[in-house]
Amino acid sequence: MLVRRATDADTAAIQALYDHHKNSPEVLGLTFIASDWPLYLSAPHVSLLVAENRGHVQGFLLGFDLVNWAYVEILVVSKEARSQGAGSALLEAFEHSGGDRWVAVELCLDPDDRSLANWLDRRGYKKPDLVEWRVKLTPQWAATHHPPVDLTGTNPSASSGLGRA
Ligand SMILES: CC(C)(COP(=O)(O)OP(=O)(O)OC[C@H]1O[C@@H](n2cnc3c(N)ncnc32)[C@H](O)[C@@H]1OP(=O)(O)O)[C@@H](O)C(=O)NCCC(=O)NCCS
Repeated sequence: MLVRRATDADTAAIQALYDHHKNSPEVLGLTFIASDWPLYLSAPHVSLLVAENRGHVQGFLLGFDLVNWAYVEILVVSKEARSQGAGSALLEAFEHSGGDRWVAVELCLDPDDRSLANWLDRRGYKKPDLVEWRVKLTPQWAATHHPPVDLTGTNPSASSGLGRA
């Protein structure tokens, strides 16, 4: 089993794994679609890693480098490939990829999934007393929020101009 950075050729397998993940396609209003993955491949501060066995992608991790800490957005291994070390290998590869710059790596879990809490606990993860809040940036939201200064054009990652549902 090999962990490596994803390439364009992996994006269909990544979407298939994502679609089979029990909480997808809606994770608290956040949906990943096939056209997202190629963008992640070239985006700065993003890691899209795959675990591959004999040419087959068995799992993937999407993580963000947030300068002095990091966040794992998705970690999924196919049901057939679980308990063979792929999940641990993906997580460890990501944890080490920040060198000594990161002071923490964070990952969110379904609060009802105790089995995964134990899996993370065995890997040194502890639950801080924090609860995430998230706003979904819908067209309705944009219509009712007008910032005093428009910084849209100054964000290089906001240049696609393609809205999404
Ligand atoms: C969480 C998840 C990624 C773990 O993937 P995995 O590949 O099964 O993880 P591992 O194989 O590394 O670890 C599972 C167990 O198998 C054991 N294992 C590791 N290598 C092994 C091997 N070669 N042979 C047998 N068992 C092995 C590990 O010791 C581990 O047991 P432990 O937790 O008691 O230490 C996977 O269960 C998953 O995709 N879950 C659904 C998605 C999800 O909820 N993700 C997290 C939030 S984004």
